Amino acid sequence: MNRFYITTPIYYVNAEPHIGHAYTTIVADVMNRFHELLGFKTFFLTGTDEHGDKIVQAAQAAGVEPKAYADKISALFRQTWPKLSIENDKFIRTTDLEHVRVVQYVLQKVFDAGEIYFDTYKGLYCVGCERFYTERELVDGKCPDHDKPPVERAEANYFFRMSKYQNWLIAHMESNPECIRPERYRNEVLAFLREPLEDLCISRPVERLNWGIPLPFDENYVTYVWFDALINYISAIGYPDGQLYKEFWPVAQHLIAKDILKPHGIYWPTMLKAAGIPLFQHLNVHGYWKTDEGKMSKSHGAVVRPLDLAPVYGLDAFRYFLLREMVFGLDAKFSEEALVQRINADLANDLGNLFSRTLAMTARYFDEKVPPFGSQPDGMDRELHDKVDDAVRQFRDEIPRLGFHKALVAIWECVGAANKYIDYVAPWNLAKDAALLPRLQTVMRTLLEVNKVVAVLISPFMPSTSVKMLERLGIAKKTSDLRLAEDTSWGALQEGAKVLKGESLFPRVETAGKKLEKPGKQGAAKADKGQKPREGKKAEAPAPSGVTDSGGLIDIDLFRQVDLRVGLIRQAEKVPHSDKLVKLMVDIGEERQIVAGIAKTHSPADLVGKQVVLVANLKPAKLMGIESHGMILAVRDGLDLKLVVPEANVSPGGKIS
Ligand code: MSP
Repeated sequence: MNRFYITTPIYYVNAEPHIGHAYTTIVADVMNRFHELLGFKTFFLTGTDEHGDKIVQAAQAAGVEPKAYADKISALFRQTWPKLSIENDKFIRTTDLEHVRVVQYVLQKVFDAGEIYFDTYKGLYCVGCERFYTERELVDGKCPDHDKPPVERAEANYFFRMSKYQNWLIAHMESNPECIRPERYRNEVLAFLREPLEDLCISRPVERLNWGIPLPFDENYVTYVWFDALINYISAIGYPDGQLYKEFWPVAQHLIAKDILKPHGIYWPTMLKAAGIPLFQHLNVHGYWKTDEGKMSKSHGAVVRPLDLAPVYGLDAFRYFLLREMVFGLDAKFSEEALVQRINADLANDLGNLFSRTLAMTARYFDEKVPPFGSQPDGMDRELHDKVDDAVRQFRDEIPRLGFHKALVAIWECVGAANKYIDYVAPWNLAKDAALLPRLQTVMRTLLEVNKVVAVLISPFMPSTSVKMLERLGIAKKTSDLRLAEDTSWGALQEGAKVLKGESLFPRVETAGKKLEKPGKQGAAKADKGQKPREGKKAEAPAPSGVTDSGGLIDIDLFRQVDLRVGLIRQAEKVPHSDKLVKLMVDIGEERQIVAGIAKTHSPADLVGKQVVLVANLKPAKLMGIESHGMILAVRDGLDLKLVVPEANVSPGGKIS
């Protein structure tokens, strides 16, 4: 049987869980659920890191003993995860006796192998980081993380012969290109390793710090917190003899953010090597969530607490946002606006509407029962089916290589295609003619099948929504019972099974006046429970999408269907034999060919490099025989024509709302 083992960092108990911790732990949960879906036997570990100066200081500030302090914050972490639908198999604490025992065992083993020695060290020490810094690592003489000058400290201590493993580690990384992913972080570690590697001080004298694991070979010292903490990844699964260790260590994958790349990319592999333990399979490294104020976490304040957010916006919506918004490996900006935008556009408008429309029509035309495929599928049905198969493939290929956002984009392409299919096929018209019943059956069955596959594919990301959707499609399964191949096979819905119309999946969020800082005041975030499915009220005269009222005003739904994007013009050339048209290649995250009638006022040379606003979901048209896939926005001013441009440069593809 295939196995999968994923770990998160064990979090320091000097701060409450915030969105950075939540992101890592949710990603681990998504990876774990994905592998369960593939039928793997999985193990998912998280926990808390409880020893060291930092914890002592936090406990002192709170006026309690370190252990009592650690108990409290550790419990907070432990209780937070289930509230975010995170299902870890084990929660380890570095104060657990079993962990202490394994740390001492490893220390003794490495000591006996002659890889630990006693020496005096003088250097510059940052209390915040709990480590000595070299001059070259400081920025303007200050610790780069804490922006404070380190203090001089001389100490007799135990050292791990890390330098000895430098060449071995370089060779290992070069011959295992996937050991640290994405590649930029492997390169970063290789860059560290171009400089001479120093030995690692792995002890602290008890008179200075007694909140740590005693060295088994010298009671006057406790273990340096990183040498203690990293070992959690093996102590938690019963190293050296436990069954779980034997089963899962060979497939171990760690998940961390870039802040702790050095301990994981250098200390940990060399520690393992010295202890004669095989290396982990992958170290997966993601970027940082930032707020407008900059870096979020640790000593910098400005944190967003996940539990303030999730209940306001919905747990699954929060998980979806985090996974969709961040490109794994790169930094991302967290803002409440971006979260609301994704909820309203991707969840309420796209997925929520597809599901309500499909179920409302199944209820209306087939008495809430899954119809058979009444007629042979036509080209459009096959195209939609192909899109779904393609999404399943991308989902299966992208998640193991950390392309979470790509997997979600592929799923949402199906959702978008299915919504367009409804608008185009207009089932309400088929329903008017009894002779078209077989066609209507096929159309509705096709849509139900798409919804089912989408429900399965979102299960690692949005487990509650997945279960809810499946239930309403007549499938009573827990997410842990789903299997990718079986449950995404086309046509597997039970003919005649009862489906349930029910409430909308994602209430739209009103955006006015909410503030994350005041989680208590959630009234402003209230949902629009009256959100209408696009299918309309009556079978005879459904409005396919948004509608205009009698005063010519459009509702917000109709506006939202116009996909306005910022594009960067990469190439421009005049269309031969036309004095009005230019052919543009516009970057909107992908390349678009657009033919625009602006040649009289804008020369091709002036256009290249300009950012413009365009309608990205216009049906393609041919102008002078050239295909145009979109329309650039411009304002006429007398005889002149001015392009609509963003106030400042933004990333190409940025969605306008
Ligand atoms: N205790 C050590 C880890 C020991 S692992 C053997 C530690 N703890 S921590 O509480 O500071 O957690 C750091 C981790 O929290 C990051 O690596 C990342 O997983 C997560 N994040 C903290 N802030 C973050 C962001 N702003 N953005 C994304 N993830 C962040 O270091």
